[in-house]
Amino acid sequence: MKKKISNSAKETERLGYELGLLLKYEPKVVILLDGDLGSGKTTFTKGLALGLGIETIVNSPTFTIMKKYQSKDRLRTLYHLDLYRLDGEGSDFDLEEYIDGIGMVVVEWPYRVESLLPKDHLLVQICKTGDDSREIIMSCVGYPCKRAVEMI
Ligand SMILES: Nc1ncnc2c1ncn2[C@@H]1O[C@H](COP(=O)(O)OP(=O)(O)O)[C@@H](O)[C@H]1O
Ligand SMILES: [Mg+2]
Repeated sequence: MKKKISNSAKETERLGYELGLLLKYEPKVVILLDGDLGSGKTTFTKGLALGLGIETIVNSPTFTIMKKYQSKDRLRTLYHLDLYRLDGEGSDFDLEEYIDGIGMVVVEWPYRVESLLPKDHLLVQICKTGDDSREIIMSCVGYPCKRAVEMI
């Protein structure tokens, strides 16, 4: 578990960027982003994408559930999901249906469909502590990313 403090949107994006760099060569990583509306989940994801070498601007996929991004060399894929609009009860959402092949999966509002999410993941919790300040807690759940979380 690692706790970081961010004092600006830029700092949060930078943290995402550093994590993206550390995870760039992992074949498949699922990152669950937990935090209130406006806490900085999408900001963090923008940084992750940059770290993976994705140059397309990442913005919120709120109305589409999932957006897929690829690095210029097509070697890295980022699947950005926002489950805010999903109703957990009775939802037939299946993460696997959205994801083909290898890539990083980032899920905003993951607990809408808790039971269908992979048990092994990297959990990033963003907590708003002031207008521009955030507490960001990263923890490995299951196998992945232990090294990345230690190094960041
Ligand atoms: N330290 C910070 N980290 C992240 N965002 C911040 C921070 N300080 C201010 N902000 C602002 O908070 C908002 C976060 O929005 P966004 O990333 O879309 O949140 P979410 O995806 O969690 O709803 C942005 O307008 C951003 O500029
Ligand atoms: Mg968002």
